[in-house]
Amino acid sequence: MRQFDARVLSNDAYGPACRKIRVEVPERLVRYDPGQFFHIRCGRGTDPLLRRPFSVYAVDADPDGWVRRLDFLFTVVGHGTRALAAHGPGDALNLLGPLGRGFAPPPEPAWHVMVAGGVGIAPFYDLAIHLMARGRTSTAGGGKGTGDGGRGTGEKPQITLLFGARTRQDLYGLSDLETLGIEIRTATDDGSHGTKGYVTELLEALLDRKSVFPTPNPKPGTPYPLQVYGCGPPPMLDRVTAIVQARGVPCQLSLDRRMGCGVGACGACVCKVKTDDADGWNYIRICRMGPVVDAARLVL
Ligand SMILES: Cc1cc2nc3c(=O)[nH]c(=O)nc-3n(C[C@H](O)[C@H](O)[C@H](O)COP(=O)(O)OP(=O)(O)OC[C@H]3O[C@@H](n4cnc5c(N)ncnc54)[C@H](O)[C@@H]3O)c2cc1C
Ligand code: FES
Repeated sequence: MRQFDARVLSNDAYGPACRKIRVEVPERLVRYDPGQFFHIRCGRGTDPLLRRPFSVYAVDADPDGWVRRLDFLFTVVGHGTRALAAHGPGDALNLLGPLGRGFAPPPEPAWHVMVAGGVGIAPFYDLAIHLMARGRTSTAGGGKGTGDGGRGTGEKPQITLLFGARTRQDLYGLSDLETLGIEIRTATDDGSHGTKGYVTELLEALLDRKSVFPTPNPKPGTPYPLQVYGCGPPPMLDRVTAIVQARGVPCQLSLDRRMGCGVGACGACVCKVKTDDADGWNYIRICRMGPVVDAARLVL
């Protein structure tokens, strides 16, 4: 974790209420794993006083894994994000991070099913790129934080994105995801793109299909290990949790909590999880033990 000034390269509208800000990171300062987050000082001085947490949408790293550029996708919802939207090229943006624990994808071959709601798409573009790079990499030492020591598998990973939003305009970054060639299914509240309804209904339908595993299966007769990932508004994640817990499907959720310090000191971000001790539950600090947590541990 480092605290540093990054230089804003661009800050562009990315839909009606959404923006993408790109920053240049000082050389050889930070490495990053998919699903970690940065705590950003959104204003130019001390207003707002508290930093705001943001997932990384896209990352450009050098061959040794040092981050060179970071993209953040954000919706303007209040004081902090309004201040962030006001930054322009050349401005300095103070970042703290990378923070927390990111995604831990299973080894290939696996079927990765990402469930995103609105701006909850943010960590999945980079995760999909990471999984595809991990599949392609066949020699040691490749890429940033690949989590498998850069060994790679040579397999093209099976990735399905289930993406939900209120309207087609709120499917932020959909065109970026489409360029990756992964399977994408969408759901909108008003039916303006994909199925009319909730993205969690797509997840249920997918998990309840008789044969849910893609073909060809490299190990005939055995299912791919299935890994669900979720990120979106709390009610969506509650529903995803209920769906996967009822079916015993492994699922990693990136939780959205209000944060204060971002480093485990203030307790603002706690979340109730199951434990093996006498009480059967405890609180964890999402900024340190998350934001990605195992859905099986969550107490609904
Ligand atoms: C780990 C993590 C990663 C995140 N990544 C992204 C991202 O990539 N893109 C993005 O747009 N947002 C992301 N968020 C949410 C983002 O941090 C909040 O939208 C931001 O802090 C709002 O700040 P604000 O000052 O503009 O809003 P405020 O003025 O503080 O609040 C405005 C409104 O937004 C609501 N709100 C504020 N923060 C949150 C929150 N964390 N969750 C739900 N509702 C909130 C408030 O209740 C209020 O109604 C992430 C949150 C976490 C915890
Ligand atoms: S934000 Fe302070 S403990 Fe998590």
